[in-house]
Parts: sequence; structure tokens; C-alpha cells
Amino acid sequence: MVAVALFFQFFLLLLPQVCSLEFVHPGLMVTNANIELAKNQISAKKDPWLSSWNRLISLQCSNTPYTSSAVNTIYRGDWGTNNANVHLLWQDIAAAFNLALRWKISGDTQYADAAAKILVSWGETLQTLGGGDDKYLTAGLQGYELANAAELLRGYPPFAKNGLAIVTDMLLRVILPMNEKFLNHGEGSEHNVKHFFANWELCNVASAMAIGVLAENQTAWDFGIHYFKNGSGNGCIDNAITNIVQEPGTGNPLGQGQESGRDQGHSALGIQLLGVIGQQAWNQGVDLFSYNGSRILLGAEYFARYNLGNDVPFVPYTNGIVHFSEISSASRGNARPTWELLNNHYVVIKGLDAPWTAKYLNHSLEVFYGYEDGIGSRGGASGYFDGLGWGSLLYRSG
Ligand SMILES: *[C@@H]1O[C@H](CO)[C@@H](O)[C@H](O)[C@H]1NC(C)=O
Ligand SMILES: *[C@@H]1O[C@H](CO)[C@@H](O)[C@H](O)[C@H]1NC(C)=O
Ligand SMILES: *[C@@H]1O[C@H](CO)[C@@H](O)[C@H](O)[C@H]1NC(C)=O
Ligand SMILES: *[C@@H]1O[C@H](CO)[C@@H](O)[C@H](O)[C@H]1NC(C)=O
Repeated sequence: MVAVALFFQFFLLLLPQVCSLEFVHPGLMVTNANIELAKNQISAKKDPWLSSWNRLISLQCSNTPYTSSAVNTIYRGDWGTNNANVHLLWQDIAAAFNLALRWKISGDTQYADAAAKILVSWGETLQTLGGGDDKYLTAGLQGYELANAAELLRGYPPFAKNGLAIVTDMLLRVILPMNEKFLNHGEGSEHNVKHFFANWELCNVASAMAIGVLAENQTAWDFGIHYFKNGSGNGCIDNAITNIVQEPGTGNPLGQGQESGRDQGHSALGIQLLGVIGQQAWNQGVDLFSYNGSRILLGAEYFARYNLGNDVPFVPYTNGIVHFSEISSASRGNARPTWELLNNHYVVIKGLDAPWTAKYLNHSLEVFYGYEDGIGSRGGASGYFDGLGWGSLLYRSG
């Protein structure tokens, strides 16, 4: 039986292109292969794994006891008022994910128990997301993160038995309908289907996919994949990367991001979320990374070249609401933990030439601590909670 199961897993690993006939677990941002490699490198005391791990276990949100702050309504927006309480959710997600990761790597069940407690408390308590249109950012960003934390923990039997269903039910009831409503353009505030910047839709695509895997719900999964390929808004890859332009000098294709004219911090988030979507799909045997001429990579290359201080062509952009005639240099050089993942996928796994992505990884490592850290390891600003990170621990190859 064991031999058959191992053979089957091996078979799946060898066939990353096949349609998923069944869902792979854990199979969102983290697989068991990622964990095994991290474990081996940590016990061999090798960097960047060891430094990443030491950072992870030093954080207050990766330690026990941890008290969850679950509430029944989360507001995003109305910043500065008493209403804005989304930090309660994203701080608890950081703890749940980090504790689950700590358990996966160390095997120490006190961390799994603590992660389960946090996730179950939100599963039992959260009823509503509020705060104007910003509530869809919560549904998208915290939706995919929550599903990822629960997916990572699902291999812990007490959670699988007594918690998973509670968390999954809440995500299907509270979050997924919002992801779908938003991407189906069901929100009256939308002036046209391209109203919302790419990030707003990309995080909702990531959430629908992640909840699909967690709940083994093929409809939700297919919805996310289909939107990425063929949706009418900016969460569709051809709209998230609006134009293919030629690199000065080489003529190589580069992909202009939909938020390039806005600022580079939001552009960086776009690349981060495309990495999430690509990785979640890849781990289920669907290759979105290579979709349409590796359009995700072309976007990363454009972003990285410009953000390292070089020029890029810019095609004037409008969605009928905002107009950009040139690229924005605001927050140029912005680093978000996503470049280990992208470099590992395109350069190491696929063997492609990704010179700017490779350079941007080095730039990011300089900005960080020599390794890409993860959620909860920086200050309290929202941007630090938009992704799970830990790229050097999880995605650097041996
Ligand atoms: C699966 O997700 C769809 C939405 O994509 C939802 O309508 C359906 O109820 C879900 N199925 C289950 C069994 O929860
Ligand atoms: C994608 O969208 C276009 C136009 O919106 C439509 O004609 C086409 O059939 C769609 N493709 C798929 C696979 O749904
Ligand atoms: C892929 O990219 C090309 C070039 O930008 C574009 O014309 C095309 O519509 C895209 N979509 C598909 C599904 O090929
Ligand atoms: C990145 O840094 C490493 C180590 O310092 C170096 O070997 C490599 O050449 C650098 N890569 C790029 C693309 O600059």
C-alpha cells in the first residue's frame, strides 16, 4: 500500500502538466517536497534555510501560547477609525501559517495545536467582511492566506478531524461568494469591468483557487483558473500584463503591468500575486506559469528591469477611469518576498533565461536579510501581510 501511494505521488510529481483528476494535498503554496528540502538544509545548517528558520521561530507569532483575536465582523477601509480591524485577521493568519509551518518542519505538535486553535476560532466566529469596496481586498488577500494556512495544517490528524470542516465551511460561506461576486462584476460601484486595479482581482482569483483546493471544490477551482485565462477584468493575465513591449537593446519581450503607471509598490504586489496564482496552480498540476508565452515571467522581467534603475518602454494606459502616459517612479525598487519563487520556477525548474528576475532576487536579498522572510516578520503595515513569503526557506533549491 505504502509503495503504491509513494509511486502515485511520484507519478504526480513527474506529470506537472496533466489536468488534476483529484486535488493534491498539501498543494497550495507549500508542498511536502518543499518541507523535506527545508528540513534537510536546516539540519545540515545551511543558509539561507537556517537563517530563515531561525527568524521564523524567533517571532512572537510563531510561538506558543498565542491568543486568537477572532471577531465576527472584519472591516478594511475607514482607516484610522475604530472600525478598521482587519489587522486582527491578518496578524492571526500570520500566526496560524507560521505555527503550521513550524509544526511541519519540526514535527512538534504544540505548534499544530496552536495553529488549529487560531483557525478554528476564526472558522467559528467570522461572519461578515465590511468596509466598502475594500472588503473585497480582505476577501481576496486574507481569503487565499487563510486557505493556505488551513491547507498546510490539514495533515495534522486532530485538525483534519475536528477543525478543517469548520474553517472550510466558513471560507465557502463568507469568503468564496465574495470572491465570485467581485470577479463576476456584481458590485454596483464598478464603472466598467476594468475599473479595479489588477491586484484587487488577482487576489480574488488566488482566493477562489485556494478555497477550491482546500474544500476540494472543482467548481471554485475551475472558476479561478478560467478567470485567470479568460476573465474580462484586470485579474485576467492578458489584462494584468497589458502590453508586450521590446526590451531596449535586446528586443526581448517584456510585459508591462497594469499598475505600472500607478506606482511600483502596487506593481510589486501584482507580481507577488501572479507568483501565488502560478504556484498554487503548479502544485495542482496546472501550468499557468507558462501560459501565453510565460506572460507572468514577462511581467516580472519588465518590473525587475525598471525597478533596478533601467528604462523600459511604456504604452499609454487607460481603463476609462485613470490615464497613465508614463511609468511611475513612485516606490521604485520596492521588494516583496516573491523572487525566490519566481527565480526557482523559471530559472531552476524550467531552465529559462530570466536575467532581470535573477538580478531582482539578489536585490531583494540585499533589502531583506540575505534571505526572504515571511508574514509577520516585519512591521505592522498592510503590505507586509499581503503574502506568506518565506521564499528562501521554501523555494530555494538545494
Ligand atoms: C463549491 O463552490 C461553488 C461555487 O464555486 C458553490 O456554489 C458550491 O456550493 C460549492 N460546493 C460545495 C459542496 O460546497
Ligand atoms: C474566452 O472569452 C471569449 C470572449 O469573452 C469567448 O469568446 C471564449 O469562448 C472564451 N473562452 C473560453 C475558454 O471560455
Ligand atoms: C496572449 O498574448 C498575445 C500577445 O499579447 C495576445 O494577443 C493574446 O490575445 C493572448 N492570449 C492568448 C489566449 O493567447
Ligand atoms: C546573484 O548573487 C549571487 C551570489 O552573490 C551571484 O553568484 C550571482 O551571479 C548573482 N546573480 C545575478 C543575476 O546577478
